[in-house]
Amino acid sequence: MKKKYQYITFLLLLFALANVAQLVSCSGSKAEEADKADSAAESLVSVDTGKMPGGKYGDAVRYGRELMLHTAYYIGPEGINGHYTGNKMNCTNCHRDAGTRPYAFNLVRSFRDYPQYRAREGRILSLAERINNCVMRPNLGRPLPLDGKEMISIMAYLKFLSDSSNVSKTTKGLKNMEVELPNVAASSDRGEVLYAQNCERCHAKNGEGKMRFDNVTYEYPPVWGLLAYRPGSSMHRVVKLAQWLKGNMPYDKTAEGKPFLTDAEALDIAAFVNDDKKHKRPLPKTTKEVDYPHYEEKAIDYDKGPFKDPFSEQQHKYGPYKPIIDYWEGQGIKPAI
Ligand code: HEC
Ligand code: HEC
Repeated sequence: MKKKYQYITFLLLLFALANVAQLVSCSGSKAEEADKADSAAESLVSVDTGKMPGGKYGDAVRYGRELMLHTAYYIGPEGINGHYTGNKMNCTNCHRDAGTRPYAFNLVRSFRDYPQYRAREGRILSLAERINNCVMRPNLGRPLPLDGKEMISIMAYLKFLSDSSNVSKTTKGLKNMEVELPNVAASSDRGEVLYAQNCERCHAKNGEGKMRFDNVTYEYPPVWGLLAYRPGSSMHRVVKLAQWLKGNMPYDKTAEGKPFLTDAEALDIAAFVNDDKKHKRPLPKTTKEVDYPHYEEKAIDYDKGPFKDPFSEQQHKYGPYKPIIDYWEGQGIKPAI
């Protein structure tokens, strides 16, 4: 009996102490901010890799993860398991931490989200077809066979991500950070200066990045040039790239959800990186490719006409985007960004 009372007193004491601690922590606004940051961090998307399954299915999941991390090594131009991608970039260069990092084209929910209608193709795509889009566009490759070991393993890995994470409507980081769209156009010239200050030390002055010593893949992937992502990749859209840059670059100065660049800087740098008048990029392998067959569904920052609105290719590419958004909203349509 005595022990029980001691225990209750102990609990009461703990409770009182916790309250005092809370009072102290609430008294300063800095502490309040830290609390808020903590709870925001709690709802960031995360994956429990401890739940990695065993058996043959687990083997596929692990190989799929390996393929995302070391794409060029396995299926690059000199890949040990097949020659599929046309450059030596890895999926993880954009879908960082093999698709698990918040605000970095996170792939945790993709398995659930497909089949899905895609405006760029104007039809419903399966997840496998969507994966092959990335193999062919940013990775300049030829499609993986749909029933081959590589495609099945990437799909198994994405299923594992979806099964082992607890995502809800309030989970943060599934989409990239948003950038505020200013009333002026993004400027490739301002971006050029900012690139020299913030990016050149890794991605090089000529944008070609830095190959790793073993020539298998990059230490710093290329951001333009004939071995970088090609037009028709979503990265080639200025707003899309700016949103990713805000959450991810410069590599050593951003943390999850903690940007270094301002929104305007991210847009200007994206305008410079994606400026095809200044830089070369690979051409699509086929001229048959028709993106956005339904013109009214074009993303506002897609830079190739014809458009079903009165704005030029120049304005679609660099902005100002607000008049385009207003135009479409005036027609009762929420345009895609
Ligand atoms: C140069 C950057 C880049 C590389 C490299 C890249 N991707 Fe992507 N990927 C993107 C972008 C951009 C999107 C479009 C995201 C969006 O629309 O928000 C995307 C979309 C996807 C999606 C659809 C996600 C969804 O839920 O809608 C999948 C799956 C995917 N990529 C898989 C891969 C795989 C697998 C590889 C490697 C073979 C790869 N990607 C390489 C940039 C890249
Ligand atoms: C300290 C070195 C460093 C700096 C500085 C840096 N990056 Fe990166 N960047 C990287 C690395 C490393 C990756 C690959 C990320 C990964 O695999 O997780 C990357 C990936 C990228 C990618 C996606 C892959 C590709 O090549 O298309 C783009 C785009 C990019 N960086 C642009 C920029 C821009 C623009 C800046 C300046 C604002 C910048 N980076 C600054 C190291 C850097």
